[in-house]
Amino acid sequence: MQHRHLIAPSLLACDFSQLREELRAIEKAGAAWAHFDVMDGAFVPNISIGLPILEACRKNTLLTLDVHLMVQNPERYLEQFAAAGADILTIHAEATAHAHRAVQMIKNLGKRAGLAINPGTPIEAFRPLLPDLDLILVMSVNPGFGGQQFIPSSLERLQQAARLRDQLNPQCLLEVDGGVNQKNIHSIALAGADILVAGSAIFSAPSIRENFAALQAKLEGREMLIAPSGTATNESMTLEFTEETS
Ligand code: DX5
Ligand code: ZN
Repeated sequence: MQHRHLIAPSLLACDFSQLREELRAIEKAGAAWAHFDVMDGAFVPNISIGLPILEACRKNTLLTLDVHLMVQNPERYLEQFAAAGADILTIHAEATAHAHRAVQMIKNLGKRAGLAINPGTPIEAFRPLLPDLDLILVMSVNPGFGGQQFIPSSLERLQQAARLRDQLNPQCLLEVDGGVNQKNIHSIALAGADILVAGSAIFSAPSIRENFAALQAKLEGREMLIAPSGTATNESMTLEFTEETS
């Protein structure tokens, strides 16, 4: 099944003192999703944002909130993250001995369920749960920090994940997270990723709007159109992403 590619800005790189404005800016730039990174200081060596900030996002945006739980034993918090406004809850295969139970919990909470794997985990880890999943996430950096370099072998891992997905659950979305930028986004999409998370490539200079448009243009393998005023335009921004999960 052909999925439409979609860029999901990672809020980890945003200015949290201006959260509402940052959400507005990614909406205006054409994003349909916002990626929300939760780090617990145990599963990953960093602490980021959690429930109250997710609630604040939910109150201020209709974007699909794609919550990436880099949390040990995430089943302890699924109910709270669902109540705080997550649309998608993605857990790590390495973070629990009970991934199957956690995925069932997410589905029973009425949310879409995702499973993520670190760069050192075999793609086969998706196999047992794939028929139940709405999303699989191939990490292209070791999770814990924004602004890292894309690990090149992730391209082949994405191809493998795409094949497994096509075989077992063609509706499931394939997401990639870490080090996505203007230079590599096209090859990453060609390798099979549907959802491309980008943090620093979105929230750095010159502006969210220009970065998003430039990434979208590269993603589609075309050059950016520069309007006479010198402002960047991007005709594809008006296209709607069709939800293909059921
Ligand atoms: C890393 C996070 C990513 C991160 C991506 O642990 O899961 O979502 O914010 O940031 P960039 O795009 O800067 O690599
Ligand atoms: Zn993430």
